[in-house]
This record gives sequence, C-alpha cells and structure tokens, in this order.
Amino acid sequence: MSNITYRAGEYADSKQLPFRIEVERHTLFSLLPDIKGKRIIDVGCGEGIYSRQLIDLGATHVIGVDGAADFIDLARSKNEGCKGRIEYHHSLIQDFRGQEDRDLAVGSYVLSYPRNLDEAVTYCKSIAACLKRGGQFIGFNNNPFEVFDGVRHEEYGCQKEMHGDIEGGRVIYRVTGMSNPIINFFLKPETYEQAFREAGFSRFNWVKVLLNPNNPQGTDYWKNFFADEPPFISMIAEK
Ligand SMILES: C[S@@+](CC[C@H](N)C(=O)[O-])C[C@H]1O[C@@H](n2cnc3c(N)ncnc32)[C@H](O)[C@@H]1O
Repeated sequence: MSNITYRAGEYADSKQLPFRIEVERHTLFSLLPDIKGKRIIDVGCGEGIYSRQLIDLGATHVIGVDGAADFIDLARSKNEGCKGRIEYHHSLIQDFRGQEDRDLAVGSYVLSYPRNLDEAVTYCKSIAACLKRGGQFIGFNNNPFEVFDGVRHEEYGCQKEMHGDIEGGRVIYRVTGMSNPIINFFLKPETYEQAFREAGFSRFNWVKVLLNPNNPQGTDYWKNFFADEPPFISMIAEK
C-alpha cells in the first residue's frame, strides 16, 4: 500500500511497548473464542505477529493478507517455525480472492484505514467474503468514541493527534521508536456499524479495551490511558 509510510521493522519493534502487550495483545487474545483447529484470516497482518501467535494458540491454518510489500517480506522472513500453517499474501484485502472457508477473521488496526463509508463497506465486504456463515470478525482499532482536538496519550508511547470528528479526518499516531507517524482516518461509530451491516454481518458490537490485570506497570501508570475513552477499541462482528 503506497500510503503506508512507516517502516515494518520499526513497527515490529514497537510491539514491545507496554500499551501493545498489556492492552492491545491482552484485549485481542481475551476476546478470541477457542481457536484450536480453526482456520483464520489475519486481515492487514503487517509483519505477522498475530498470525504467528494464532498458530501458537492452536489455529490450524492462518492466511495473512497485507497491502504493504515490506511488511509481507518481513512476515515471510519470520515464518520458519510456521511453514505450511501460515500463508502470506501481498494484496489489498479488496483484491484478495481467497478461500471462503475461514472460521474467524482477525483485523488489528486494519479498519483504521478506510476514509469514508463506501471504503469501509468495501473493506467489510472483503472480510465477509472470506468467512463461513456464522464466522466472526475480531478487530482492534482506533477508538472513534474518543474525539478531541489536539494530542493525547504521549506518556504511553502512542501520541494520538486528531482534530474533531470529521469523517475522513486524519488521526495521527506517533509511536515511540518509529521514525514516521501512522496515519489513520476518523470514521464515526455509526459509519462502522452501517458498513458491517451493509457487508452482511448480522451482529456487531464495540468492546472496550482491557488491561492485563497482571501488568507489571501497576494501576497508577494506566490511570490516564483509561480515564476517559482509551485511544483504541475492539470490534466483534458475526456473519
Ligand atoms: C498498523 S498496521 C497493523 C499490522 C498488524 N495487524 C499488527 O497489528 O501488527 C496496519 C496494516 O494494515 C495494512 N492495510 C491497511 N489497509 C489495507 C488493505 N486495504 N488491504 C490490506 N492491508 C491493508 C497496512 O499495510 C498495515 O500493514
């Protein structure tokens, strides 16, 4: 994807930051159903961190799809232990024509990229097309319920800049250790809900992010992160 300007290696290193481990990973994996024996698609898989972890948790097969060549190259270079169980595709999800046999789709931050309802519908339809009837989507995303004008969350290594709730407006994340910012786009909650409906999902729910109760930083450290709306949110949908 030509509009991804951050570097795959730096992005991968940022997965060691506390917000990634204690909130992002903890939430995503707390929401997963039993995935033993399941066939999964990791939409916007990046360098494959969650594809590999899904295999470690017992998934039978994962397809990772990402539009950015350097992310897919890095994912393939880390695939030694998962050969035959993860298949990476360098493709936009909109262009991906894969199996329709997936029990589960995981999408970590991928739905922060559509810029309007039409694009969001296209993303959601492409995800739905990979799922069996009854299959679930579990996502982790920019939180559209958090609306402000300025910057927040810099003390957590994920400075978030936004300027109100204009559809398609930029939401810029400056993550510690990354030379270039991550540019996402704001869509209203109801836009996402409509997109999932139009794509044929029968159920859609927002789920607040969770903090790992065993986090080593302690409650005080996370006070501001959870004081109002946290910067991120999860989504669960069912086809
Ligand atoms: C912030 S990264 C997250 C990567 C990975 N899911 C993770 O959590 O580590 C978002 C990824 O979504 C990918 N992406 C965004 N829109 C996409 C699309 N339409 N098709 C495929 N990949 C897309 C980007 O290339 C990028 O690698």
